[in-house]
Amino acid sequence: MKICRSIQECRATTAALRATGKTIGFVPTMGFLHDGHLSLITKAQAECDAVIVSIFVNPTQFGQTADLDQYPRDEPRDLALLTSVNVAAVFLPEATEVYPPGNETIVETTRMANILHGKIRPGHFRGVASVVARLFNIVQPDVAVFGEKDYQQLQVIKRMVQDLHMPVRILGGPTVREADGLAMSSRNVRLSPEDRAAATILNRALCAAEASATHPGATVGDLRDIITATIAAEPRATLEGLDTVAADTLTELSGRLAGPVAVMISVAFGDILLIDQKVVQA
Ligand code: PAF
Repeated sequence: MKICRSIQECRATTAALRATGKTIGFVPTMGFLHDGHLSLITKAQAECDAVIVSIFVNPTQFGQTADLDQYPRDEPRDLALLTSVNVAAVFLPEATEVYPPGNETIVETTRMANILHGKIRPGHFRGVASVVARLFNIVQPDVAVFGEKDYQQLQVIKRMVQDLHMPVRILGGPTVREADGLAMSSRNVRLSPEDRAAATILNRALCAAEASATHPGATVGDLRDIITATIAAEPRATLEGLDTVAADTLTELSGRLAGPVAVMISVAFGDILLIDQKVVQA
């Protein structure tokens, strides 16, 4: 596995792969890899001849420096994992490589970035779109794979690629869960044992909503009520965000279910915010 720390090294690696006729899949990450990331890599490997992974804790998508500083990192472990799954190359840039001094260009999906989680975390999706656009320009992949767990992020990136005519195909990878249903996330390690046990409530609430969607005449209000009641029954959890939106455009829905609804929740355990989502159908 080639380890690239500069844009120059990354571009040389991409060029060498292309020279042998290989298609390139890309999985951008912020490191501290888990089975969820590995499933995205497997998906990219099924679509392309060679896969490049980036590990970059992107400062522009964090609101508070404390959150950025506390983000878990373990480069040696990540590199060992990536080697074991036959990734062709890993790109590990410094922040000044991605954001050269004096840079002033941002990318923002004006509506999507400012609704739902974007309202709770202002500037977050601007940071995500700005870094992903830069990474796409550096790696120039044919296909890029993102987790469906970060559902709004996936839609923001799809919109950006369409709007800016970027020649990359975006694929979503299904959420990978622990045995007890908790969606895998690098944040889970920061939960206390009690909060970790209580955190299964996110998946339980989403499954209850999915079941209620199949009742004849089910409404968006029914989904919201069951999520609110299920989370309220867990004293360690605080429901910070609940959105029931059209699965593609993320526009707010109401009334009888008619088409796929993305149910997106953010739940706080102390100062740790977990997110999860499910697309449910009537
Ligand atoms: O999902 C993530 O890990 C990040 O938001 C991403 C897409 C790598 C951009 O920094």
